[in-house]
Order: sequence, then structure tokens, then C-alpha cells
Amino acid sequence: MIRKAVIPAAGLGTRFLPITKAQPKEMLPVVHKPVIQYVVEEVYSSGIKEILVITGKQKRAIEDHFDRYNASNENNYVDELEEILENLDIFFIRQKEQKGLGDAVRYAEAFVEDDPFVLLLGDNITIPNCTGILMSIFEEFRAPVIAIEEVPIERAKDHGIIKGEKIRDSVYRIEDMFEKPEEPVSNLAIIGRYILTSEVFDYLKELKSGYGGEIQLTDALRNMVLDGKEVYAYLYHGRRFDIGNKQDWLKANIELGLEDEEVGKALKGWLVGFMKKELM
Ligand code: UTP
Repeated sequence: MIRKAVIPAAGLGTRFLPITKAQPKEMLPVVHKPVIQYVVEEVYSSGIKEILVITGKQKRAIEDHFDRYNASNENNYVDELEEILENLDIFFIRQKEQKGLGDAVRYAEAFVEDDPFVLLLGDNITIPNCTGILMSIFEEFRAPVIAIEEVPIERAKDHGIIKGEKIRDSVYRIEDMFEKPEEPVSNLAIIGRYILTSEVFDYLKELKSGYGGEIQLTDALRNMVLDGKEVYAYLYHGRRFDIGNKQDWLKANIELGLEDEEVGKALKGWLVGFMKKELM
């Protein structure tokens, strides 16, 4: 049974400068909500009640967002969030220096204790909920599982990439993995949703900096695999938006905006008219 989730959200977000000079990228709005609220809702809908968010410099707005809203004006979106927050315990810890995702995950060790946990990047949205599926795969194999998706091979060098043996539809046993490889061995890219066991902390402690001079989670998982430990990958078929990248952020606002009850219809009318003019 998985009871804990960890959300690293301490990255500097340099691809979003100057927006991220004074506010976290995890607070970028996607239609009505900041990105990180989608992530917290994914955790909540998977039945998990304890969350640790790893924050850092310029990230205080995240903590404030998950605080009680005290003003009296009614707002359905706020009410929805308040209801979720009633049922969750959210803890925060600050990463002292932005030394990479692997370093950020180390801050979760005391919170996790010996339990398996879900790790969700705070700037990624998955629809439908990817965590629930990963949890069911973990129940079956009792070993770490990471979500992957297929990317065009020419873009594989921008991602963490796995090499694996397909053991059944959409499930692979990982044989090797690489962070942003120059010569990718596949087009199967890691997408920011993981189920990990506390063993990962032993591997993170031993790590030296890897790609980009940062402590890379992919390297720790790779060392586990090379030590003969079982690590699985699940090929996620839903929609994934990496809000850490501008194009995906804009796409998420358009796609999810078009599906939204409040603004979808009007947005569609405007978009159709706009595209017609563009194509003329
Ligand atoms: P990214 O690779 O998106 O890096 O991090 P970044 O620093 O956030 O953004 P850019 O590249 O400067 O624009 C992937 C995930 O790892 C977290 C980020 O918050 C994001 O969820 N992270 C990264 C940390 O928590 N700490 C770090 O030191 C680095």
C-alpha cells in the first residue's frame, strides 16, 4: 500500500525567465489552476494523503497556495481546493542548493522512512491520472516503476531514456537508462512519474554529479539496475504536459481551455475564427 507522495519543485525554471525571477514555475496558471495543483490533485485522487513538497529559493508562493483561504467571497474553484486540503497533510522542505533532481529527492528520506512512495515532478501534468496505474503495477511487481512515453527519436537526447525488455503490453523491465544521451538507445523517455522504494536513497548518497553538473535521479536508478535490481517502466498512453517547457505550457492552456466548461465554448469560437484568418 503506498501512502506517501513526494513532489520536487525546487528547480530554478531558467527556461521561463524572466517569469521565474520572482515566482515559481510550478505556480504558472493552466486555465484555472497553477500547475502544482493538478499534481496535488493527481496524488489525492490516487488515495494518498501525505505529501512532501521539496521547495527552494523563490518558491514561497507554493506554500501559500496550499494554505487556508480566509476571505469570505464564494468561489467554486477555491471551495474544491479547500475540500481536498481538508483531507491532505502537505509538508514542505527546502532544498538548500539547486544541485539537481537527484539531490532534491534526497531531502525526502526522513519523510519516506522505509515506505515505497510516489514521486511526481511538480511541473508535469498527466491526464488521465498516471499515478494510479503505476501504483497497480507496483502492487504486482513490488519493485520501482517509472512512467515513460514515446518521443520522436530526434528529440530523445533532450530526455532521460530507457533501454528495456518488453515483458508485456506497455510494461518493460529496464536494462539500462541514460540522462539526456548524445546517442539515444531508444525513443522511450522518462516522464516525471515514479514509484520508488527507500533503497534509492542509498544510491543517491553515492552519486557524483552527472549530466549538466547536476545530481541526476536517472543515474541512481541506473546504478540500481546495473546492480541487478528490478526496475520497471510503464508506457503511459495518456496526455502529458511538461509545463517546464514553454510550448507545452501554452498547449496545455489551449487544450484544457477548450475542454473547460466555463471558457471552452467561447475559446473555440475565437480560435476557429482566428485560424481561418491566419490561413487566408
Ligand atoms: P528541470 O530539468 O525542469 O530543471 O527539473 P529546472 O531547474 O526546474 O528548470 P530549467 O531547466 O532551469 O528551466 C526537473 C524537476 O526537478 C526539480 C524541478 O523542480 C522539476 O520538478 N528539481 C530540479 C529540483 O527540485 N531541484 C533541482 O535542483 C533541480
